[in-house]
Order: sequence, then structure tokens, then C-alpha cells
Amino acid sequence: ENGPQSIMRAGHELAAKLYHHVLTLTEEGKAGREYIAERGFTKEQIEHFQIGFAPDRWDALTTILSKRQFPLDIMAQASLLGTRQQDGGHFDRFRQRLMFPIWDGQGNVIAFGGRTVSGEQPKYLNSSESPIFQKGRTLYGLHLARPTMRKESTAVLFEGYVDVIAAWGAGVRNGIATLGTALTEEQARLLRRNAETVILCYDSDQAGTDAAFRSAGLLEEAGCFVKVAQMPDGLDPDDYIRTYGAERFQSNVIGASLTMMAFKMRYLRQGKNLQHEADRMRYIEEVLTEISTLQRAVERDHYLRQLADEFSLSLEALKQEQIQIYRSRR
Ligand code: UTP
Ligand code: MN
Ligand code: MN
Ligand code: MN
Ligand code: MN
Repeated sequence: ENGPQSIMRAGHELAAKLYHHVLTLTEEGKAGREYIAERGFTKEQIEHFQIGFAPDRWDALTTILSKRQFPLDIMAQASLLGTRQQDGGHFDRFRQRLMFPIWDGQGNVIAFGGRTVSGEQPKYLNSSESPIFQKGRTLYGLHLARPTMRKESTAVLFEGYVDVIAAWGAGVRNGIATLGTALTEEQARLLRRNAETVILCYDSDQAGTDAAFRSAGLLEEAGCFVKVAQMPDGLDPDDYIRTYGAERFQSNVIGASLTMMAFKMRYLRQGKNLQHEADRMRYIEEVLTEISTLQRAVERDHYLRQLADEFSLSLEALKQEQIQIYRSRR
């Protein structure tokens, strides 16, 4: 097959090789290696994820693609190169960035995420969508994580490339990430085909919490059982691993992830003093409302009993209360 799409894939393959070579073996890669050293990524991580570095030049990739007779306009359509306004000439789109290859499900490189090492904006420059790259259909790291995902029937979904890589270093081999966008229905279905349980391990900030609620809805609709991992405020998984280490990440974050209902209950507790009757009543009401959204009767029963136990209420009273909630909804 010699169509534009296969030429685009071949161009990406070559680019990934060049960037990885620059990072690991050349003088021009020094800034990348220094940055990597600061972040604490190991050789194994660099190799497994084929991390690279785009040199601080306008023509490094352009020259090589041109020498190998790649049609540069097609390389520009695939968003590897930029096009000059004045004369239609081409230049390297990624410069002085740490390069993360993004693969399709078969392991072909189809795009890049490029992180600045010099504080330039944007922090991550990503490939634009192209005939071979649709963000909403791609999950970072899927082909690498798939064997473990299938074996454990569990996937861990992160926000960032570096979270997947840090987690892999900490022994979590079933991590994948979306590509800087909200999870799509299509990605949720793709996940469900490879794993039944999805553990959401998003950044511990308001954006991450909002995203977790949103993704959980989509994943449940796709038929996944969703759990949520929790970390101290303000940290993301990569920060956590660097601060507390691999073992604590495995046991206190991944191993301690909460079911969606437990996560919602914890969320609803925030800002309430359950010693106070008014807060307690409001909390019980809110939890009952959540419980009544559950599809399965056994699940509803389980959480009703839990709530009854915690507040020394009769199951009967809670069920009555729940009937009121159902009625008021109609
Ligand atoms: P974060 O801002 O949480 O970045 O964005 P990060 O993954 O923790 O990266 P480091 O640790 O600062 O290097 C999460 C994800 O959002 C996308 C990227 O996919 C990133 O991994 N993003 C973020 C962008 O696409 N562009 C940006 O400018 C920033
Ligand atoms: Mn190598
Ligand atoms: Mn974030
Ligand atoms: Mn982050
Ligand atoms: Mn981070």
C-alpha cells in the first residue's frame, strides 16, 4: 500500500527514530537528557515509550525527510512539518521539545506530543488531527498496555502521557491516557473491548475531579465498572510517584481506589459537619438521590444498608424516603 496514509505513517516512524536517536546519542540531545534526568525517567522508560527530543533547529527532520524523498506537502498534512506563508517551503514543526510518540492500536506511530523543556507555550504541542490521527479514537499507550489490560481485565486511565510513563515505572503496566481532551464515547467503547474495570487516576485538582465524574458516566454507559483513585490535593500521579514512591502508589492509590458510589459519598461529605443534624440530613438526602440512580437493585440495596448502618437508621425509613425521591422526580 502506497497511499498518502501509509506515507504519513512511514514519515512518523522515521521522525520517531530521529527524535529518539537525538535524545539518546547526540550532542543536540543534551537539553533533552538534562530535562529527563531532572524528571527522573529511567533508560527503561525512555526505551519502552521511545521518548525522543526534537533539536532546536528548523530543518532537522525536514532535511532527512527530503533526503529520503518523502513528499513534504504530505508530511505537512500529517502535521510533522509546517509550511511557510511566503514561499510554500517547509520547516520542522517540533523544535526543542521532548517528544512522545503516539501510536495507533497496532503500534504504528501516528502523532506526537511534544513537551517544552524551556518553558515555552504551549506546554505540550500536539500533532493536529490528520488522516491517520483522530484524537477521539486514540488512547495513548493502548498497544503497550493491552496485554496487561486483558490479563487483569482492568485499565488505569490517566490525564497525561507522563503519568502513564511514571506509572509504568512504578509497575502499573495497564495505564493509558486521553490526549489532552475529554474522554469520548468512542474511547470508552475502545476501553470496554479490552477491560471490564477502569480505574480513573486523574490529577487531584478541581479539573481532574470534574473530568472523573464526566468520564465515569461515559464509561458506565459503555458497560465498564468504574473506580476512582485518590491522591493528596494538588498532586498528579507522576508527582505522587516521585514524592511517595512506587509501593505507596500501588497500595495507597491504585489499590485503594474507590467505587464510584464511595467516591461520590466522599465528595458529598466535603464541607459538611455530619455531627450537625442539618448537614447530616442533607447528606443522607443527597446520597439517597445518588443511590436511586443506580441501575442494579443489589447495588442499591448494598448502599442503602451501608447508609442505614452508618447513621443508625432503619432500612425501612430509608426506603420510604427514597420513594419520595422517585416521586418528586416524575
Ligand atoms: P497537565 O497540565 O496535567 O500536564 O495536562 P502533565 O501531564 O502533568 O505534564 P507535566 O507533568 O507538566 O509534564 C495533562 C495533559 O493535557 C494535555 C497533555 O496531553 C497532558 O499530558 N495538555 C496539557 C496539552 O495537550 N497541552 C498543554 O499545553 C497542556
Ligand atoms: Mn533506543
Ligand atoms: Mn491536569
Ligand atoms: Mn498533570
Ligand atoms: Mn505532571
